Amino acid sequence: MPLNRTLVLLLAGLGLAASAHAQTVLKIGYATSKESHYGVGSTVFCDEIEKGTQGRYKCQQFPNSALGGEREQIEAVQLGTQDLVNTSTGPLGNFVPEVKVVDIPFLFRNYDHARKVMDGAIGQDLQKKMAAKGLINLAWTENGFRHMTNSKRAIVKADDAAGLKMRTMENKVHMDGYKTFGILPTPMPFPELFTALQQGTVDGQENPIPVILASKFSQVQKHLSLTGHVYSPAALILSPAVWSKLSDADKQVFTEAAKKGAAAQRKKVNDDEANGIAQLKKDGMQVVEQVDGDSFRKAVASAYQGYAREFGADRIAAIQAVK
Ligand code: PAF
Repeated sequence: MPLNRTLVLLLAGLGLAASAHAQTVLKIGYATSKESHYGVGSTVFCDEIEKGTQGRYKCQQFPNSALGGEREQIEAVQLGTQDLVNTSTGPLGNFVPEVKVVDIPFLFRNYDHARKVMDGAIGQDLQKKMAAKGLINLAWTENGFRHMTNSKRAIVKADDAAGLKMRTMENKVHMDGYKTFGILPTPMPFPELFTALQQGTVDGQENPIPVILASKFSQVQKHLSLTGHVYSPAALILSPAVWSKLSDADKQVFTEAAKKGAAAQRKKVNDDEANGIAQLKKDGMQVVEQVDGDSFRKAVASAYQGYAREFGADRIAAIQAVK
């Protein structure tokens, strides 16, 4: 073979090897399916970083809690053994206590209010607190307003929920609030929930419509009540081990990609809220759409004293004041 041709082939081979080596595959995990809100948001983020870094970074996605419960995954991201997690704030307060304030029941009026708070100064301040604990929150994504399902009876007012054994997240702020409704909160990692509902270990659970749909809870729960008793924020969190290796330009790409992912995730939450209830009825669920919200708000007022002691009445008022 002529020398020139050998040289060209050799250089091409080296080039290929170099670009193959230059590709970093990031592991991203989340609780629900790839078609769910978490999957939609994560996929947009992954596509955007791959495009924005000309393929130097790409993702391997692990939906359906394949890397464990949210608490385990947050811990793994903090330690650097997992690169990314798209997770609710439910277990996040165990790592960054200041975040727990956004888990207070009936704190947010509606999606518009919640998204404004999370994207504004209060949300940014919490992102800084997370960074200080080794959790790089690239963007606030979203899980949605949580609603109750159960296998026993229709819940119209708080009293109807009294005595029901309900799986909750491992989150004391939620549990303190739910106790005021008379519920018996049973904290449990999400991957164990479907079986617990199927076997009747718990009577019910509470989650946003996108989760109820994606997890097919209509197969194991008869009643759904649109209680919207708490907003469940979520975050796309990157390990500092990855973040610290990124160039400034790549940091910008990741941040912008996360914003686009968050927007797509929120849009999917909107779509599921708009279309999912009809689907769940079709699947056989009995849905209470007109819940007596005041009865729940009245009950939870007693828990607000404890929340004010823990987080400061002024901080709670500042969140409520966002228009
Ligand atoms: O109920 C939970 O634990 C969470 O809402 C879930 C389903 C893991 C999504 O963040």
